[in-house]
Amino acid sequence: MADLSVNIGRLKLKNPVMVASGTFGYAAEFADFIDLKKLGAIVTKTITLTPRKGNPMPRTCEAPAGMLNSIGLENPGLEVFIKDKLPYLNKLGVPLIISIASEKDIREFAILAKRLDKVRAISAIELNISCPNIHGRSAKLVAQDPVATYEVIKSVRKATSKVLITKLSPNVTDIIQIALAAQSAGSDAVALINTLTGMSIDVASCRPKIAAGIAGLSGPAIRPVAVRCCWEVYQKIKIPIIGMGGIIDTLSALEFFLAGATCVSVGTANFINPKVSIEIIEGIKKYLAGNKLSGIKEVIGSVKI
Ligand SMILES: Cc1cc2nc3c(=O)[nH]c(=O)nc-3n(C[C@H](O)[C@H](O)[C@H](O)COP(=O)(O)O)c2cc1C
Repeated sequence: MADLSVNIGRLKLKNPVMVASGTFGYAAEFADFIDLKKLGAIVTKTITLTPRKGNPMPRTCEAPAGMLNSIGLENPGLEVFIKDKLPYLNKLGVPLIISIASEKDIREFAILAKRLDKVRAISAIELNISCPNIHGRSAKLVAQDPVATYEVIKSVRKATSKVLITKLSPNVTDIIQIALAAQSAGSDAVALINTLTGMSIDVASCRPKIAAGIAGLSGPAIRPVAVRCCWEVYQKIKIPIIGMGGIIDTLSALEFFLAGATCVSVGTANFINPKVSIEIIEGIKKYLAGNKLSGIKEVIGSVKI
């Protein structure tokens, strides 16, 4: 049988399919639909130091070939997460990647990481430096600034020895510069992409469909942007890429491997078909067997240009 295993830093995954932060809750929500143990890894909803109620409703709406969301990082906060959510996740025996974000001060990243460093159940930390739905309109995302990206990762690197993944934003002029900054600061991998900023207006009421106005666009609509980001970054960095953005089936997942991703993450598609990630794992096995490939590593970056 073909080898589906991959490595993210020193973390070994049995297969390269994970679920994207914010689209899979804390996993228990999906237990009735799939065997969670089959997933390559689980990335949990971004947590912050203190609990957050999130943004006003409506926070989601459909968009052509995708959706808009401005959840605003609703979460129970670090300590409640560790006490109430982690014990269930830990029992699954699947590598756990915990997504974290700062709210007011980017030094919170290191505080969160230091606390999580002591928690054995956690395999890796994902730094969500790219959430479009939390900062004031004029505030620049960390992920839009290579210097801020470098500084945040450097501070987190000092605070923990866990595997570090940095989640990048497509809302930048040159994503390569941000990926290079992440690599040189000690990130073990980059995850890309977070949502693209977008807006949709209800003409009858003259109001934005999302209460916050501007929101994050996800789903198949953004896939070509995500694959392009993956390919651009792959050619310039040495650390692995976790590719995501509009994956809905095996073929769309394979696009990311061909463009250089070591792993893929499934997001919005979980809301349409909660079994999709498992179907993709099975589909990749069939693709490798059908093409007489020894493993997924043979596919990574093999697009012919
Ligand atoms: C409803 C919703 C909530 C999300 N929440 C988070 C989050 O908390 N942290 C994060 O890093 N990304 C979050 N994302 C972004 C996804 O993880 C992913 O990067 C993005 O949606 C692109 O992948 P997709 O097109 O497969 O959904 C969220 C996306 C959606 C649709």
